Amino acid sequence: MAGSGDSVFAHIVLAPEDPILGVTVAYNKDQSPVKLNLGVGAYRTEEGKPLVLNVVRKAEQLLVNDQSRVKEYLPITGLADFNKLSAKLIFGDDSPAIQENRVTTVQSLSGTGSLRVGGEFLGKHYHERTIYIPQPTWGNHPKIFTLAGLSVKSYRYYNPQTKGLDFEGMLEDLGAAPSGAIVLIHACAHNPTGVDPTVEQWEQIRTLMRSKGLLPFFDSAYQGFASGNLDSDAQPIRMFVADGGELLAAQSYAKNMGLYGERVGALSIVCRNADVASKVESQLKLVIRPMYSSPPLHGASIVATILKDRNMYDEWKVELKSMADRIISMRHQLFDALNSRGIPGDWSHIIKQIGMFTFTGLNPEQVAFMTKEFHIYMTSDGRISMAGLSSSTVPHLADAIHAAVTRLS
Ligand SMILES: Cc1ncc(COP(=O)(O)O)c(C=O)c1O
Repeated sequence: MAGSGDSVFAHIVLAPEDPILGVTVAYNKDQSPVKLNLGVGAYRTEEGKPLVLNVVRKAEQLLVNDQSRVKEYLPITGLADFNKLSAKLIFGDDSPAIQENRVTTVQSLSGTGSLRVGGEFLGKHYHERTIYIPQPTWGNHPKIFTLAGLSVKSYRYYNPQTKGLDFEGMLEDLGAAPSGAIVLIHACAHNPTGVDPTVEQWEQIRTLMRSKGLLPFFDSAYQGFASGNLDSDAQPIRMFVADGGELLAAQSYAKNMGLYGERVGALSIVCRNADVASKVESQLKLVIRPMYSSPPLHGASIVATILKDRNMYDEWKVELKSMADRIISMRHQLFDALNSRGIPGDWSHIIKQIGMFTFTGLNPEQVAFMTKEFHIYMTSDGRISMAGLSSSTVPHLADAIHAAVTRLS
């Protein structure tokens, strides 16, 4: 029996920090003036500051000035305009699946919420409960899908020797998966490796998956961020839509519109026909209603305002490209800085990998050393966020890698 002053929660053990968000917690405690946070996947300017896009500020101003706007609840599926425009953004303006009304799109809580709603829906209504995720993958994937009631298995993806794609291993594992299994695919800018298949490889993956009836679940957290072009980054998804087959796609506006904390994203399910799509949507509502009832209004209104206005849309594309370009230029600067220090090994993967992250190949011991001696913070798998670097911090990082590699190889 609990005595007075005893907590009914006294048995609860302290949970570990999230492996990614915990890096920022440790960084915040560090008092060093040279500390550098390369853990978190959020864009920073050359000055190391978070960025609110100009076009986002403009959209917000328009929304604030519009006195006719109210704060009523959105429907369970979210803002209709936002859903329509999000589907077009990911599947393309002229997508036959959209024209044939066989896509259902619901607004969700950023990429994570979209993955979770999709996972819950599959757990309730799909006949095959196994989902294959790449090895390695974003650390939240296994947790999201396990809690959604799916059984999580992995397929080979990354080859540490080549620091590139293990394409044969991937095909072999997908080929051995039970027919109908769900396959989680990073649409572009794979996190954490920065390694994506080529278009030719995507075509082979598509043929294999369709021949085995595997169900693709695309995670699109970086559309436009990888290449700077929204259409190229969506190409793998559009290849799967073009064959007329079914799929799920989770979209996030965290990175590409810089709306991280607004939690704005969408889940789309492409179905065989309009009748199936409307039934699927009716069941998605039953997943969402007891989870969070309906999604938030503000972020989706910003996105819809930008996507439906030609000028604002064009302005967004320019700002998005400049973020992607800055990240690419950081890759080149880091690569040059490592080469100029004569650091042993081939570092060309830094310029070959794509998107927000570089999977450096540094081991946990080297990472711990760089944190202790150089105050550089990153996840223990050696992943660094290129978006957290700037011209002024590249030399410090290159010195740290130099010391870690020469002293602890
Ligand atoms: C691969 C991947 N999927 C999904 C997400 C979800 O992000 P959010 O929920 O912030 O949109 C992230 C964020 O880092 C990610 O890297």
